[in-house]
Amino acid sequence: MSTDSISRARLATLTKRERATFADRHPGSKNAYANAGHLFGRVPMTWMNKAAGNFPIYLDRARGNRITDVDGNEFVDFALGDTGAMAGHSPEPVVAAVTARLRNGLATMMPTEDAAAAGAELARRFGLPAWSFALTATDANRWAIRLLRAVTGRSKILVNSYCYHGSVDESLIVVGPDGRGVSREGNVGAPVDVTMTSRVAEFNDLAGLERELAYGDVAAVLMEPALTNIGIVLPEDGYLAGVRELTRRYGTYLINDETHTFSAGPGGATAYWGLEPDVVTIGKAIGGGVPVGAYGLSAELAGTLSGRDDLDLVDMGGVGGTLAGNPVSMAATRATLGEVLTEAAFAGMIETATAFADGLVKIIEGYGLPWSVSRLGARVEYRFASPAPRNGTESARGADAELEDFLHVYLANRGVLLTPFHNMALMCPQTTPADVARHHEIFDAALKELV
Ligand SMILES: Cc1ncc(COP(=O)(O)O)c(C=O)c1O
Repeated sequence: MSTDSISRARLATLTKRERATFADRHPGSKNAYANAGHLFGRVPMTWMNKAAGNFPIYLDRARGNRITDVDGNEFVDFALGDTGAMAGHSPEPVVAAVTARLRNGLATMMPTEDAAAAGAELARRFGLPAWSFALTATDANRWAIRLLRAVTGRSKILVNSYCYHGSVDESLIVVGPDGRGVSREGNVGAPVDVTMTSRVAEFNDLAGLERELAYGDVAAVLMEPALTNIGIVLPEDGYLAGVRELTRRYGTYLINDETHTFSAGPGGATAYWGLEPDVVTIGKAIGGGVPVGAYGLSAELAGTLSGRDDLDLVDMGGVGGTLAGNPVSMAATRATLGEVLTEAAFAGMIETATAFADGLVKIIEGYGLPWSVSRLGARVEYRFASPAPRNGTESARGADAELEDFLHVYLANRGVLLTPFHNMALMCPQTTPADVARHHEIFDAALKELV
């Protein structure tokens, strides 16, 4: 059996049936979508049109790992806000901390002591001493990049092919068919050709990385220690150590973007694999659902930057954000790190994710499908390719939008949500073995109908 042998006609018929069921089950959502004519694309943010059922499900309320939509349907949520809700929806300590703050000033331009506590906890977990806050991981990446360009006087940023680091201009580059960098398809409004600002190497390819670093113009490598946005692509033995060695040898700083790889454990992949980046960027989950981004700098970098009087780090220099570090985000981050995404919580989430991955492998093997399952701590993903892809380009080739849509809408119709982007399932502190079993039962039924 191969994925190719799945009948496309049957897949189309089943998807049509499931979309009709979806429409029947979600009249309120359908109506709300129809009434949103003054939103561009009918949604508050264009990516919300990534909906396998042809229109988005509208939220009524969410708690822990359960979501109830405006039609009263309840879902077990494995999407968890694509990591924004890895702490579970509306965790009690975060609600309490934020509620207290909401009554006492939201945009005061003054620091609160919560920020120092959050910074100290991030320093303890990720091993970098000096932290600064943004409102999104995208901005944390943008600002880190600017700082490293300033410090090195070099113009380029190197990323991995098919990475995602948010809406960062420099990251929209892939390895083209001839091995050279080219703009990623669909890149919206690039200020200049991306090859002027960026270099690219495949994940798990040290020779390719060295070839690009040898030009001597790369200020920083911006990478996830495991790719998580084109399926999960895990590092091979020695790869991350090789990246660190090469970046040091060529005078290039290393940024670990832990926004998703935080799923590896309390100190993300950095602590889990004992990595030594110069900068860590992160966002989403650390705010327990409240917008926040953060970047941590090494002592050497913080010292160098503080000594650069020519850089305007206070006013118009390009690393601003009036509401960054606001009291609500800081209260939420302190509470999330201090009381929700604790070591004990991670232990439970990772145990649940291990069971999720093991069960998936059994089901997939049972149907003889050449798919692979990868796990990074509390995060699990299957890919329509086997063996598991080694880099972004291989993983991109394993994409199958039709199959993905069918599985997503089939699961949604039976009360289970995966992230709308690929086949990722994330565990939060409230996810139980029974929730995993429920997903697996439905997934198995979907495959039985399909294969
Ligand atoms: C690795 C990584 N970095 C950065 C971002 C951007 O996060 P945000 O959308 O909060 O800016 C994402 C979003 O998915 C991400 O996966």
